[in-house]
Amino acid sequence: MKTHHNNALRIEHVGERVVLTGFVARRRDLGNLVFIDLRDGEGITQLAFDSDNPLKDKASAIKSEYVLRAEGVVRERSSKNPDLPSGDIELDVDALDVLNTAKQPPMLIRDETDALEETRLRHRYLDLRRPRLQALMKLRHSITAATREFLNQEGFLEFETPILTKSTPEGARDYIVPSRLHKHSFYALPQSPQLFKQLLMSAGFERYYQIARCFRDEDLRSDRQPEFTQIDIEMSLIDQEAVLDLTERLVAHIMKATRGIEVKTPFPRIPYHEALSRYGTDKPDTRFGLELVDLSDVFAQTDFKVFHSVLESDGRIKAINVEGGAARFSRKDIEKDLTSEVAKYGAKGLLFLRAEAEGLKGPAAKFSTEEELTATAARMEAGEGDLLLFVADRVQTVNAALGHLRNVLAGKLDLIDADTFDYTWIVEWPLFEYDEDEGRYLALHHPFTRFPEKELDTLKEDPAAVGAFGYDLVAQGQELAGGSLRIHNAEMQREVFRALGIEEARQQERFGFLLEALEYGTPPHGGIAFGLDRFVMMLGKTDNIRDVIPFPKTQSGHCLLTGAPGDVDASQLNELGLKKDKHEK
Ligand code: AMO
Ligand code: AMP
Repeated sequence: MKTHHNNALRIEHVGERVVLTGFVARRRDLGNLVFIDLRDGEGITQLAFDSDNPLKDKASAIKSEYVLRAEGVVRERSSKNPDLPSGDIELDVDALDVLNTAKQPPMLIRDETDALEETRLRHRYLDLRRPRLQALMKLRHSITAATREFLNQEGFLEFETPILTKSTPEGARDYIVPSRLHKHSFYALPQSPQLFKQLLMSAGFERYYQIARCFRDEDLRSDRQPEFTQIDIEMSLIDQEAVLDLTERLVAHIMKATRGIEVKTPFPRIPYHEALSRYGTDKPDTRFGLELVDLSDVFAQTDFKVFHSVLESDGRIKAINVEGGAARFSRKDIEKDLTSEVAKYGAKGLLFLRAEAEGLKGPAAKFSTEEELTATAARMEAGEGDLLLFVADRVQTVNAALGHLRNVLAGKLDLIDADTFDYTWIVEWPLFEYDEDEGRYLALHHPFTRFPEKELDTLKEDPAAVGAFGYDLVAQGQELAGGSLRIHNAEMQREVFRALGIEEARQQERFGFLLEALEYGTPPHGGIAFGLDRFVMMLGKTDNIRDVIPFPKTQSGHCLLTGAPGDVDASQLNELGLKKDKHEK
């Protein structure tokens, strides 16, 4: 239908006869002249209808979002638009077809739209016409295309694994699907292809990948959706170095192919415990400093009640040095704004000290001895004008609160460079973590993660002390990918299930097929999975996961476009042998 897209014509095309198609972005009627901005996924070209153009009246009647086909000759504009790549030219139209009309759209179809997100999601097909979303969808495609290109080259095979399956635990709730043929039996939607990719290793395919949809029924946040996509990778007969190396080369390839950016490899590695201690989190943003410093030993003999009782119950005192922060944050800023930030993570308060020429001054000074202040200043490398912020609490609370405060401070102080990609490996993960709330051990990655065989005894005595072959890739404070070497020995796998409190019968019922496969010569293997959506967000510079998914759900899990989740007919339920609760309509 057309000869060019709407971002193709330039001054050198002047005089050429062309055909364009697109949506009407805008019509300007200047009485004797009519201009129409014609938009497609590539850009905008201006159509011009002069006073003597017989099509002028037809053009006058055209409204926003009509679909047009226009034929004519490219000419130089009399008044150019330097903001538009095609702004030097316009099309002098001599044939015009209205391919379809459009109702008045409920939103402005431009990047800077004022529409509520609810309106945008309700009319997602209109929202997606906005250039920004068109660009993000293309970026998403470029990333998956670059991924396939790289992995195919490296000898990986692309697989599809089942969507209707059995629960694959990744720490979230399952979505379940009732079976009609087997009443009161249910499929689960996969939280990841984890077990299937391991079975493919057992099947002798040494290099697997999948651009895989995953389903997790968990509380949504700005970087989480109930269904999301992973770049899922698994390899046999490799060690951890091989997985990290392949991942780094994949990231470098994607960055180069999609953004023209050269990334430096190998990526730095930080052991898990060090990340928690220095940054308070296992997904640190390493684009800025503001590291957490432990001062517990400095205050070991303190009389200050708050500190004393925290240390007494095995808690920690940690602080951040905000260089030059004394003048930047008033007492009110600290006691209201910053304190409310740490309170979100359970901290009971935020103490501060300012570094002045005569030493550390501030509310916390009166609780401290001269030696404590001197030692604090030295440990924190405090120089005149610096601000020290303290939290004392259980170590988990201190880390969470100061880890969050660190990010808040970096934002306020404008320390974050959005163009820096600080890819960092978090390595040396523990296998388990004790969950106080649930009163049991949980796997930090998942229950299929391998650990050194010599730690089998430790597993039985002190599960939290076992170190795992696990690794996460973080960048810009986000967990981009996570993976591990896997258990390939049935006995070791049973030990892990036992340590997690899964009894034999349940192991057999839920994971019997895996345990069995491990008994038939499964090669040692391992892998990793990227959160594709998060990767697109990072490269596309958006902090809203809904911007990178064509048809996303809201924070409450609704699809505003289709109305899902919705009711089903009684007959459908009947066939499935299901009934609604009496009190429900
Ligand atoms: P994991 O659970 O860490 O590992 O997931 C891998 C990556 O997927 C992304 N991710 C999400 N993205 C959007 N919305 C969500 N709800 C969501 N949950 C996770 C994250 C994360 O790093 N089978 C293992 C991988 C493996 O061991 O190979 C797994 O699923 O970016
Ligand atoms: P309070 O004794 O609760 O009035 O607190 C005195 C000062 O100590 C206030 O500035 C609090 O913000 C601060 N504070 C209280 N508890 C903690 C804590 N656990 N960590 C850091 N500062 C605290």
